[in-house]
Amino acid sequence: MESVLPPGVAPLLGRAGRVVVLSGAGMSADSGVPTFRDELTGLWARFDAHQLATAEAFHADPDLVWGWYEWRRARVRRARPNPGHLATATIEALIPDTVVVSQNVDDLHERAGSRAPIHLHGSLFAPRCVAEDAHPAVFSDSEDDEAADPGTGGRLSPPSCVRCGALVRPGVVWFGEVLPEAALTAAVEAAAACDVLLAVGTSGVVYPAAEIPRIAARSGAAVIQINPQPTSLDQICTVNLRGSAAQVLPTLVEAAFGIARQA
Ligand code: APR
Repeated sequence: MESVLPPGVAPLLGRAGRVVVLSGAGMSADSGVPTFRDELTGLWARFDAHQLATAEAFHADPDLVWGWYEWRRARVRRARPNPGHLATATIEALIPDTVVVSQNVDDLHERAGSRAPIHLHGSLFAPRCVAEDAHPAVFSDSEDDEAADPGTGGRLSPPSCVRCGALVRPGVVWFGEVLPEAALTAAVEAAAACDVLLAVGTSGVVYPAAEIPRIAARSGAAVIQINPQPTSLDQICTVNLRGSAAQVLPTLVEAAFGIARQA
């Protein structure tokens, strides 16, 4: 498997003092979580994700959108971190000044042992109230049946916030919404200060997240991309490693630190 690593790549990571791991939907693809641009299925097949991931869509049809996010949440809860997530946690353990910046709304980095990944696009596990101050939603959640088969999902009425009676919405950043300021600032600062940025499984087309690897490159860091496909980031990367996150990231960690991969 070392063959995927051109000479000189592993030492780039092995010698790094400050690392950023920027993960996109491709990082979780090997855990069975569809990427954002994968075709939607079932009830949502006639939509593309952009149509559903907006405040307008939610207010136009809350049951459709809430159903979609609850279906996605149930699928994530049944998924397991893959060797890509585990290798990320290993890098953090070996290089304390590592910042994980996730565009994903799943919790697979946390379940793989990552300390405090920055969630630029929110989380499926932090529903909040639609009220102006966006306070965390207070409602009785059917969290108990973790193993429940999400099936093909369906329409589902969002609960009402016990605190103010308003609708509860998914705690994710929808298209047209601003990213959480503190998260974005922390990600930008980490990118500007890092020696190495790993861009894993992102198409690099959604801003401002897509600016993060470009900030690192402009600041003189080595940018290593891991993606089976070419992306808009290819030109700014020091190295483009063609392959899956679950395959290439553990191989890179193994070569950089001489640490055997975790299954
Ligand atoms: N390993 C690594 N990369 C993969 C894998 C894999 N197993 N499978 C697919 N990929 C790559 C694809 O080639 C693609 O470039 O992952 C990328 C996924 O791209 P997107 O679906 O566009 O996801 P992402 O870049 O994370 O999207 C950014 O856009 O839609 C919003 O909020 C959403 O966070 C998302 C953001």
